[in-house]
Amino acid sequence: MSAAAHETAPFGAVFTEKLSMSRWDGERFEEPHLEPVGPIPIHPAAHVLHYSSSVFEGLKAHRGIGGELRLFRLDRHIERMQQSARLLYLPAPDKELLERMIIEVVLEARDAIPQPPGSLYLRPTLIGTEANIGAAAAPSKEALLYVLASPVGDYFSGAIRPLKVVVESHRPRSTPSFGMAKTGANYAAALGLIMEAKHTHAADQVLFAPGGDVQETGAANFILLDDRRVLTKPLDPSFLPGVTRDSVLVIARDLGYEVIERDFTIEEMLEFAESGEAALSGTAAVLAGVGTILHEGRAHQVGGGHVGPNTLRLRAALTALQTGSTPDTHGWIRTIG
Ligand SMILES: Cc1ncc(COP(=O)(O)O)c(C=O)c1O
Repeated sequence: MSAAAHETAPFGAVFTEKLSMSRWDGERFEEPHLEPVGPIPIHPAAHVLHYSSSVFEGLKAHRGIGGELRLFRLDRHIERMQQSARLLYLPAPDKELLERMIIEVVLEARDAIPQPPGSLYLRPTLIGTEANIGAAAAPSKEALLYVLASPVGDYFSGAIRPLKVVVESHRPRSTPSFGMAKTGANYAAALGLIMEAKHTHAADQVLFAPGGDVQETGAANFILLDDRRVLTKPLDPSFLPGVTRDSVLVIARDLGYEVIERDFTIEEMLEFAESGEAALSGTAAVLAGVGTILHEGRAHQVGGGHVGPNTLRLRAALTALQTGSTPDTHGWIRTIG
């Protein structure tokens, strides 16, 4: 695997050579070990294959300006993985165990980590492996935990370009109490609408706003911003508590923006967007500006159809922190060698 393969491959389609793995036998996780990335033997009756007992995380390790490896908000991602596991009745791995597995994979992949703006995307995954198709109403008695790593460049191909999102005002992305879980089934539930938006409107994403309540997109949170304010929905179980969302809000406050967390409607968003900016926040998306919001067949330009200056400013502040060109004043970085 060359360090540059990620530059031509789609996001997440290139992997480092080793992953870290640990099996849970119903009582405890075994001591993790590194093994080559490749097919893993799994029983056709495995719980995950039938009843979707799967949770995962997505975080990044960046190469710092001094060459050091920097994990961004490791603790937050581990906490969210534990929360997702509890919601799916999967065994929540100890912080210490998961931390060790993630660090082990990063160190092993050291030479394959791209220079910024590239990074190493880490995908801790936990699946129910008990072979029992009769266990639809019971948690899996066995599980597999692994950490996979993928050298990545841009999530939305074409560097910093304005995105097009289609508003879905009826269907939610997931069931109301499960949006907060990072679980595969949520992505499966949203896929049909995203495919339709891509094919029919050449859109990049769907913005879920069931009943008019603007929540998040299929793979990132959603914020509105202008020269003074950042507006986003307050956390609730209907959508994923993004680590990037949280980071952007903290950085925005540091930079003097007023941060407003409250519910807002599609109408209010469209009005805001006439003179303001909109952006998607996520580990993969970083902070990606929206240029067009499509609602009920009508295209609304955001910020003149360009990625706005405030989006670029906050994005630059976030990436500067991640790569170490500004000091880590919030204790968000775990430097590992
Ligand atoms: C549905 C969804 N919402 C929001 C996010 C953003 O979360 P984070 O900033 O922690 O990556 C993601 C993942 O990136 C996601 O898949």
